[in-house]
Amino acid sequence: MQKQIITIAGGGSTYTPGIIQAVLNGQERLPVSEIRLYDIEASRNENMFLILQYMLEQQGFSSIKLVQTTNPEEAFTGTNFIFSQIRVGGLKMREKDEKIPLKHGLVGQETCGLGGFSYGLRSIGPLLELVGFIQKYAPEAWILNYTNPETIISEAVRRQFPGIRMINVCDMTIGIEDTLAKNYGYDRDNWVATYYGLNHFGWYTKIYDKSLKRDIMPELLEKLKVQEIKEEDPSWNRAFNMIRFMVQNFPDNLPNNYLEYYLYPDMYVDYADPNYTRANTVMDGREQKTQEMAGKIRNKEKEDVLDFYFGVHGLYIVDIATSLLNDEKSRFMLIVENKGSIPNLRSDAVVEVPAYVGATGVEAIALPEIGDFHKGLMEAQVAAEKLLVDAYFENSYQKALQAFTLNQSVPNATVAKKVLDEMISENKAFWPVLK
Ligand code: NAD
Ligand code: G6P
Ligand code: MN
Repeated sequence: MQKQIITIAGGGSTYTPGIIQAVLNGQERLPVSEIRLYDIEASRNENMFLILQYMLEQQGFSSIKLVQTTNPEEAFTGTNFIFSQIRVGGLKMREKDEKIPLKHGLVGQETCGLGGFSYGLRSIGPLLELVGFIQKYAPEAWILNYTNPETIISEAVRRQFPGIRMINVCDMTIGIEDTLAKNYGYDRDNWVATYYGLNHFGWYTKIYDKSLKRDIMPELLEKLKVQEIKEEDPSWNRAFNMIRFMVQNFPDNLPNNYLEYYLYPDMYVDYADPNYTRANTVMDGREQKTQEMAGKIRNKEKEDVLDFYFGVHGLYIVDIATSLLNDEKSRFMLIVENKGSIPNLRSDAVVEVPAYVGATGVEAIALPEIGDFHKGLMEAQVAAEKLLVDAYFENSYQKALQAFTLNQSVPNATVAKKVLDEMISENKAFWPVLK
């Protein structure tokens, strides 16, 4: 099999070691000759270069060429796959996305609510620029995008580059399945899950277990009602147990944990510390660990050098690349233009549904019609997201205000405007000018 070149856009991301570990473990199905790290911050890229160089040496992969660059031409010319995971504005701006809404009594979160909208308006421009570079230097390559907020990015890229070879993917569904299987005694490898929604905004309707030969959703829902979930990373315990809380109130389907921000924003605001949010936890945790790993390698230390998360996040994106390359037609939850997958939802909505991936790309499945509760929630959210993308392309303050007001975590237009105005002044270096 021809060896592939993989470029990580956002090479300095704290997720890079986990993804590369999955690449290294998967050399039989996705053999690589070269890994390129592309980032706009040379120092972050340099740290990651050292970490990956160490990993390659330790694991006997010194023949894989490793490149670090801030030059798009060097990053993309001749590459086969781009794994995109940039964070526009970094964790410092994430902190503002989380803290500004909280100050006004609203949910402050990376991808949901107004924090997600702030991140969206910041991310569209650089993502379009990135996709433009790839179109120029590697038009045949596949872009597998993890960059958030996924729906907004996907909507914007689709408008500017119709037919783009880009797959938008979120690790949350696989994360939920992994956690449920481990907590409740199942083997996730046997699962065929059916799920629909928007990104970070959806529901499971069925989980067929191939070895048990039945839909295990009913028994999972029963377990969720009574049995607490414990996560490997305890900082995720609350999020997963909110799934349990939601099931106790809406027992028909299994929701994505992110729905807590739209269904129970009041609980989140009560719980959150407006002075220390998730961005702080990540800066003090994952980001610090990454710097420490690079520091140890610089100091030529030999013991306990590597300390990073390896799990579903890296495996999922590598499985998708593998399925494309080998025409495996494996099934994933992917973020796609609806086009009838959910028949009674507007066809141009960006939805997250099961899809098969093979040599020609993504083929989403057709689902049954959905009920009014989920449909109503989704329609409002889709409209809000579309208005936000309109605001970007039309430089429209009015559209941004409409988007902020319609966002399902916002109770009235007064607070929507206050938060919007504060976010405009805090995002001057990033947002388009809104008139
Ligand atoms: P991070 O800040 O640690 O890393 C992001 C990197 O991107 C940084 O090194 C930064 O310098 C770089 N960058 C920023 N703008 C860039 C640009 N225009 N071109 C090239 N590089 C650029 O962030 P992280 O916590 O590792 O997360 C990375 C991204 O992955 C975020 O968007 C995050 O939301 C997303 N993410 C998505 C999922 C998902 O389910 N879709 C899961 C995990 C993370
Ligand atoms: C999950 C979601 C991602 C999100 C991430 C945040 O993986 O699917 O979309 O970016 O969580 O994790 P963090 O540890 O950065 O808060
Ligand atoms: Mn996600």
